[in-house]
Amino acid sequence: MQRSTFLRAGGGAMIVAALPPLTERALGAELVQYTLTAAPVPFSPVPGLNFAGLGYNGSIPGPLLRVVYGQRLRAKFVNNTGQGSTIHWHGMILPNKMDGAEGVTQPAVPPGGSFVYEFSPEPPGTRWYHDHVSDGMLRGLFGMIVVEDPRDQKADAEFALVFHDVPKPGSARAAMMGVSTAPMVDPPASPELREMAPDDKMGDEIAFIAHCINGASYPNTKRLPVKVGQHVRLRILNANPTQTRYVRLAGHRLIVTHSDGNPLPKPLEVDALRVGVAERYDAWFEVSEPGSWLLQGLSSDPLGYEQAAVVHTPGMENASPLSSPQSLEGVDYFTYAKAGGAGSAVPAKGAKHYDFTLGGGQYGSSRWTINGKTYPNTPRIDVRRNDLVTVRFTNKTDMDHPMHLHGHVFEVTEVDGVALARPLPKDTSLVRANEGTLSWRFRADSPPGRWLLHCHNAIHMMDGMMTDVVYTT
Ligand code: C2O
Ligand code: CU
Repeated sequence: MQRSTFLRAGGGAMIVAALPPLTERALGAELVQYTLTAAPVPFSPVPGLNFAGLGYNGSIPGPLLRVVYGQRLRAKFVNNTGQGSTIHWHGMILPNKMDGAEGVTQPAVPPGGSFVYEFSPEPPGTRWYHDHVSDGMLRGLFGMIVVEDPRDQKADAEFALVFHDVPKPGSARAAMMGVSTAPMVDPPASPELREMAPDDKMGDEIAFIAHCINGASYPNTKRLPVKVGQHVRLRILNANPTQTRYVRLAGHRLIVTHSDGNPLPKPLEVDALRVGVAERYDAWFEVSEPGSWLLQGLSSDPLGYEQAAVVHTPGMENASPLSSPQSLEGVDYFTYAKAGGAGSAVPAKGAKHYDFTLGGGQYGSSRWTINGKTYPNTPRIDVRRNDLVTVRFTNKTDMDHPMHLHGHVFEVTEVDGVALARPLPKDTSLVRANEGTLSWRFRADSPPGRWLLHCHNAIHMMDGMMTDVVYTT
């Protein structure tokens, strides 16, 4: 296949047009209304499995929400789950009281209660929404929201794909106590497996008993029909609560244009995506011949092939699809370093600089820490409007941490000691295990309030790896 010829003028074309200021857009905005009712959903993506899930509007994942950038969203949340719940709009810059962070921006919506979330979704791109109270997200309360960007190149076909998994009941509890027996299931030759000492006792992983894309397991996943000549856009979300996913489409290279919904400074062509917990990637491919190919989440777990869907041209829907090996040996997968390129200068510290050491996770312990503390005793970031803030993470544990900041888009400026020539705009980023480092830079120009900063591994978050960014003026 020819390299990225279809991305007109590379990435530049996608980011030159300036967006009109928010106020101007809001004036002409139409309102898009949704009702999201959360309630118990019996979920059985594979025969014999009956999972007591929770879902929005009767499905896991919840419905794909779409708005066009500039429209206003009003989402009425009705909580019939029987437990407290909120909706967090992951990756959005929005009024603090709409952020859905339980105990921080609002109390949990009680069973039988409701809450109206209303805001102008921003910035445009592939975002998602999920419960932000106790175990709601583990049980199925998540979905994708696409804020269409009028500046984007038009795709001939587009597929929004939520990669998610069914946890074994009780295994999250054991993982929180650090005594889980669940194995690692990362693909052979993955950095995750390389980071582990051979005698390492894990204790902190959740056991997953089924692997899904958009609510089904292969071969029952929805087929993805394409035609020869088409330029196809994939919007991929990893909604797994603890594990990174490697995603590969057999027979094709993928051109990654957006990270966490934000346009990359320069698109990157790869064999496979590496998608940390809560991350999103937009990736394109060109259909150059008739065929049938498997889009897979790679895994060393024998269940790995369940997280797959068939991409096919007309008439090929029942052909046996070309698949990829589960190993990452020799596979050119997406990394921040490749996407950002090595720069020379060490990124300057902002007016407010924080060094955060990520720790904890001893076998048998329920503590995951920032600078030795668990939330709410972790060091907090106080900012004044328009401060330039830099944070440098150093990871002393043997697991990667998908660190997430609410209400902002930050730039990743440094990875493992190498400054990036092109900082990456993101809202969640993996800090590598065993002395990995990573730096963020962001401007404190979001709506004032209290914004959570935490590891998006659900176990690590619940066990304390969290803090807040607080606007003091
Ligand atoms: Cu998707 Cu507090 O996060
Ligand atoms: Cu973590």
